[in-house]
Amino acid sequence: MKVDAPPPATAPAAAVPPTADAAWHRLHDEATAPYRQGGRFAWHFARGKLGRDPVFRGLIERGLIGPQRERVVDIGSGQSLIASLLSVAAAMQAQGRWPARWTSTPARVDYTGIELMPKDVARAQASLAHLRPSPRIVCADMCTAELPACDLVVILDVLHYVDLTAQEGVLVRVRDALGPGGRLLLRIGDASSARGFAVSQWVDRTVTRVRGHRVSPTWGRTLPEWKALLARLGFTVQSVPMSEGTPFANVLLVADLPAAHGTSSHRPT
Ligand SMILES: C[S@@+](CC[C@H](N)C(=O)[O-])C[C@H]1O[C@@H](n2cnc3c(N)ncnc32)[C@H](O)[C@@H]1O
Repeated sequence: MKVDAPPPATAPAAAVPPTADAAWHRLHDEATAPYRQGGRFAWHFARGKLGRDPVFRGLIERGLIGPQRERVVDIGSGQSLIASLLSVAAAMQAQGRWPARWTSTPARVDYTGIELMPKDVARAQASLAHLRPSPRIVCADMCTAELPACDLVVILDVLHYVDLTAQEGVLVRVRDALGPGGRLLLRIGDASSARGFAVSQWVDRTVTRVRGHRVSPTWGRTLPEWKALLARLGFTVQSVPMSEGTPFANVLLVADLPAAHGTSSHRPT
């Protein structure tokens, strides 16, 4: 009797990289899910912020946090959304669920968040305790907090809370913590755009109140003033409009320090 040969074993289908939109939806869902641990406010705030603020998808899609930037310091870190985002991004890349045209982010992130408000620190710590390596989320004032040696500093919508002298003091310490080839991602409001700057300040004060914090005065600079300050501190600066779809005058400054003497002039992304 003729026995049928067994069907050839089928190789597992190769993972098909997702589209950018599908990947972003997944990143948004998976990076915000842990905030359920931090309570209803933490979860709703994380979903709204990550979903509506164009900066987070912009950082990923523009490849601004390249694979070499493992040591990340997030100043004014709020709920430490960046830590959750980069952790999920690393997992998606390991599983082949990363769009072909997106640059990789670090496979392992050593994250330090520095945040003034104890409630935000508590929400972030309660939500992100599962991450490995464990994020360090410190309740401290950026004007005095120790900044660890790092490859990337992220400061999103924070420096206007302190006066101009203190802003410069923070940036000097950021430069020293970064070292050669380091990158600062700094989002500021452009004070020369009177309407957009006023809207962002009004929203800022409202959100500060909703989060249960006291509203304090703020200090702005125009975009050319921000760029001049960073250039004086040794950074090469590019600006990326980062208020798409919002009424704000927000600009993301990508500020890079030169590589060390004797190394390739090519800066890591
Ligand atoms: C507009 S929120 C932005 C939060 C976070 N960067 C983000 O994009 O989700 C500004 C944050 O800076 C924090 N902050 C203000 N002054 C600070 C200071 N002196 N030191 C550390 N954090 C500060 C606030 O408490 C708040 O969480």
